[in-house]
Amino acid sequence: MTPPSTQESLRQVLGSMVHVSRVVQGAEVHGLVRGAASSGLLAACVEPVTVADLATRLGRGDALVADICQALDAHGVLVRDGDRYQLSAGWEPMVDPLLGGLMDDMLAYGAARAAMVEALVTAPETYWNGNPEHQLAVARGVTLDPRSPMAVAVVRMMYDALPDVCEVLSAGGRYLELGCGVAGTLLCSLQVFPRMTATGIELSDRLVAEARERASELAVADRVRFVAGDVAAFSDDDCYDVAFWSQFFFPTSTRADALGTAYRSLRHGGTLLCPLMAEPSLLSDKLHSDDGRDAAMDRLVHGSWGVPARGADDLADELEEAGFVNVRVIDRGFQRTVLGVRP
Ligand SMILES: C[S@@+](CC[C@H](N)C(=O)[O-])C[C@H]1O[C@@H](n2cnc3c(N)ncnc32)[C@H](O)[C@@H]1O
Repeated sequence: MTPPSTQESLRQVLGSMVHVSRVVQGAEVHGLVRGAASSGLLAACVEPVTVADLATRLGRGDALVADICQALDAHGVLVRDGDRYQLSAGWEPMVDPLLGGLMDDMLAYGAARAAMVEALVTAPETYWNGNPEHQLAVARGVTLDPRSPMAVAVVRMMYDALPDVCEVLSAGGRYLELGCGVAGTLLCSLQVFPRMTATGIELSDRLVAEARERASELAVADRVRFVAGDVAAFSDDDCYDVAFWSQFFFPTSTRADALGTAYRSLRHGGTLLCPLMAEPSLLSDKLHSDDGRDAAMDRLVHGSWGVPARGADDLADELEEAGFVNVRVIDRGFQRTVLGVRP
């Protein structure tokens, strides 16, 4: 007979396992959805479809496909109606061809970030000196696929809140991006404004190569120049009407130089746009909400690269210290941006 004190300890251990199980389940669901997306199963479920039909299309056994569908149903991805499965209403938009590679990019981003977060505790890798596949997945995952019409529409909507910027870019304005990654925003902007020209600067050669490929594919390569290197060393003074700075990829030690380049490169009256991550106050006020959990992960990853936590007020102060004026925040819900003007 197990002594009562041991029984109590065992009960506690078994009770605690539920927490770990949830984490394990999250990883499994990620794998399940990624496989279902890459195999074409999700796309095949836009219309109600039988397991037998799905199995034929995928070239897999009926029993296996039935279990896959059941697992996807259990997690709210598919819904069952009689002998057919269909994507649930919440998931259906994710396979819209207008989204391009958005879902694949998001899932690959999740896998790369999971590996990065795990490594933080054991063998830290940063975005710049770690696994290049992780870097590429993160660079793709933080932006939109510029080959998708939806991405172009989202970027157009972002500019709706900036009528002055729209006017200048529509008239053939010059745009500079400091830290352009694979250039999702930049390449969407070139499609929104067919007369605009652009320069993108990026530390990683690999990301620059992908940005160049995408520009050729979209037939905008004649209006954009990519520079592989540090923004601190860039010099094209007084040339640009608009600059975009992805500040949440810039560690503390690099920020003053980046802002100096933005300031010098803009013409007088030119505008600097800086997207924001979540407000740091979310971590104290709503840590256990979905947004709070996301923000905590972002802080962990970006903080590990030496990037400071910047809320709207902190970033506005930083821009003012660098000499920008008319500094303000544009809040569009899905994106918050701090703006400053070079006097
Ligand atoms: C991922 S991008 C931002 C995404 C981009 N706005 C888009 O829409 O695709 C941020 C990039 O800034 C780059 N970066 C950070 N510090 C830099 C520096 N000092 N010089 C050049 N690029 C830098 C990083 O390598 C990273 O790829």
